[in-house]
Amino acid sequence: MRSSVFLAALSALLPAYVAGQAQQWGQCGGIGWTGATTCVSGSVCTKQNDYYSQCLPGTATSAPSNPPTSLPSSSPTSPTSAPSSPSSTPTPSANNPWTGYQIYLSPYYANEVAAAAKAISDSTLAAKAASVAQIPTFTWLDSVSKIPDLQQYLSDASALGKSSGQKQLLQIVVYDLPDRDCAAKASNGEFSIANNGQANYENYIDQIVAAIKQFPDVRVVAVIEPDSLANLVTNLSVQKCANAQTTYLACVNYALKQLSAVGVYSYMDAGHAGWLGWPANLTPAAQLFAKVYSDAGKSPFIKGLATNVANYNALSAATPDPITQGDPNYDEIHYINSLSPALTSAGFPATFIVDQGRSGQQNLRQQWGDWCNIKGAGFGTRPTTNTGSSLIDSIVWVKPGGECDGTSNSSSPRFDSTCALSDAAQPAPEAGTWFQSYFETLVSKANPPL
Ligand SMILES: *[C@@H]1O[C@H](CO)[C@@H](O)[C@H](O)[C@H]1NC(C)=O
Ligand SMILES: *[C@@H]1O[C@H](CO)[C@@H](O)[C@H](O)[C@H]1NC(C)=O
Repeated sequence: MRSSVFLAALSALLPAYVAGQAQQWGQCGGIGWTGATTCVSGSVCTKQNDYYSQCLPGTATSAPSNPPTSLPSSSPTSPTSAPSSPSSTPTPSANNPWTGYQIYLSPYYANEVAAAAKAISDSTLAAKAASVAQIPTFTWLDSVSKIPDLQQYLSDASALGKSSGQKQLLQIVVYDLPDRDCAAKASNGEFSIANNGQANYENYIDQIVAAIKQFPDVRVVAVIEPDSLANLVTNLSVQKCANAQTTYLACVNYALKQLSAVGVYSYMDAGHAGWLGWPANLTPAAQLFAKVYSDAGKSPFIKGLATNVANYNALSAATPDPITQGDPNYDEIHYINSLSPALTSAGFPATFIVDQGRSGQQNLRQQWGDWCNIKGAGFGTRPTTNTGSSLIDSIVWVKPGGECDGTSNSSSPRFDSTCALSDAAQPAPEAGTWFQSYFETLVSKANPPL
């Protein structure tokens, strides 16, 4: 805060810097960045990751990276206060983990959405945009630095549960493997296998578990490591994936065991219909997931698999998209119905959750493998346990729509050429940062409409 006052004073003295201010939503810092490092008035330069700082709406005293909470002002729980350990080993529910619980809304996403809605001049579109803040998404713990947010949300959810009498469920994505995203580049993580990655990862899991343990009244559901196990099924020809295989398995095993011990319901990421849904991949995939389940002790908290995370496939397509030709599993329900028997015979009685956050519009892609900021995508079916399939526990929004999949800037260290394809919206900022024009399209193309 002090530094932005200082910079404001400095730019008053140096008019050239004023001319060089970055626009709202524009980049204002990061490794290799040589452009403006201050933002136009009404927005604040906010660090998103080492590679990217972005001008977000707001003033220095209310940066969106410091989300507001609904904690009663009298009882903020210090993250360092003594944990109240659960009195006994958690007992899993035989049923759907969402049943009887209200989903806690991430204040970070609600804040992003509120700021984005305010920036829309068309009042009808702005009202629709603002309503997205009420739709639950998942919180991506994509670096150790996000764990204090988890601590805050748990504390907030616990207080809300007590004050409202409505039990709260918190949705997270565990996403910090060493050598993460081994077959692509846009989501490179903070840990590397060569540099103590496994120990760093175990420490990351330990910190998550320590936070969760303090709030046994809040139920937690986790998606485990998007793309990682699917990459081990199909992408071992990529050197980075081959090198990562042993470490990925050891780390996922550690995560599942530790999370199960504190009663977290886990769903391992299982790619989507256009990836593991090809007939040749189904059996190897089922065998890998069943082995991971078995190696982690077959805990009943290891509920099953998450599909279509951050992807665009329909749960049930009206007609097959032409790009799916050759795959009988042309949508998520066909994929799940085909994978389920293979899992059962491999010894894993899995149930599923399916991301439909950006699946409102279909037949948008040039190729099925395209995954980056697909042009024309709309928000999809709202989260619900009314899924139409006994194999599917819930339709969910795992990917917070509006957060970018990856940059289209070919000079960025995290550039992935997929994000510069003709079916990808451009110019796109770095992965995870806010992509305003993309969000506006998701809102206007939402199906069912907002
Ligand atoms: C990873 O595997 C998928 C599915 O077989 C394939 O489409 C994709 O091209 C592979 N990625 C790389 C980088 O080889
Ligand atoms: C693209 O990224 C490079 C390296 O980070 C940066 O210098 C350049 O200004 C960026 N270009 C745009 C249009 O953001």
